[in-house]
Amino acid sequence: MITGAGQGIGLAIARRIEKDGYHVVALDRVAQTAERTAELVDGTACVVDVSDDESVGQCAAMLRDTFGSVDVLVNNAGYWRHETFEEGTEDGAHDIFDVNVLGAWRIARHLLPLFNPGGAIVNVTSIAVNCPPFDLGLYPATKAALLGLTRQLAVQLGPKGIRVNAVAPGLIRTPGSAKAYQDGARNRLLATLPIPRAGEPEDIADVVSFLVGQDARYITGEEIRVDGGLLLVGAGDRRVHG
Ligand SMILES: NC(=O)c1ccc[n+]([C@@H]2O[C@H](COP(=O)([O-])OP(=O)(O)OC[C@H]3O[C@@H](n4cnc5c(N)ncnc54)[C@H](O)[C@@H]3O)[C@@H](O)[C@H]2O)c1
Repeated sequence: MITGAGQGIGLAIARRIEKDGYHVVALDRVAQTAERTAELVDGTACVVDVSDDESVGQCAAMLRDTFGSVDVLVNNAGYWRHETFEEGTEDGAHDIFDVNVLGAWRIARHLLPLFNPGGAIVNVTSIAVNCPPFDLGLYPATKAALLGLTRQLAVQLGPKGIRVNAVAPGLIRTPGSAKAYQDGARNRLLATLPIPRAGEPEDIADVVSFLVGQDARYITGEEIRVDGGLLLVGAGDRRVHG
């Protein structure tokens, strides 16, 4: 089960996980893209908003009835919004936590009874926790909370034979972030990275594949940064993230 599988990093993860031999359930709130991904990987679509508990429950019931069990969950669905501290609103704050943090918690809670021992969960966090951009509001706070959830679940699910880890992407070129790449400041920053280019969704997907696979069998509660070395050289112009 990959959430936010309709495009970007989630789509790349769906493709990679399918190559690894799994049947992919592509969850996205956008029907058209969820179905396109499902078709591409010969998988199953689930059109669900991760902030809607009832729909998530229905998707889990479909999984149980169709497949009986789950081996891998990748909580990738998430979003960011450009706003300063002063521009933030109460409703906006609740919504971003509801999707980025509670979305992952909700899916994990509904799927847990279906998990096979030997299974693995990967949560997609962000380097924004370590170098918060100037204007991403509560986004870094949501990803820090998701990392906390990752570690809590790792402790709780370890004895059940389920590992839980996180991947923290750097600056990855996706439909969601495409606009930022029209900006000269973003491109100048990318040129200063130890690996001087934007990250591609596949750079993240390959690490997710490692973390859910047997080669990572003794790793749990860990976060792997996949940022081309961005944190080593600093965030540069902090307005270019996102
Ligand atoms: N692109 C980057 O540079 C970058 C950097 C760090 C972290 N991330 C994280 O990686 C993840 C994927 O990012 P992306 O760049 O591929 O984004 P994207 O916007 O291109 O794709 C996100 C996908 O998630 C889906 N989605 C969003 N909210 C949802 C919800 N409530 N329920 C179900 N589906 C939902 C969208 O419909 C979309 O298909 C996000 O969690 C993001 O925070 C991205």
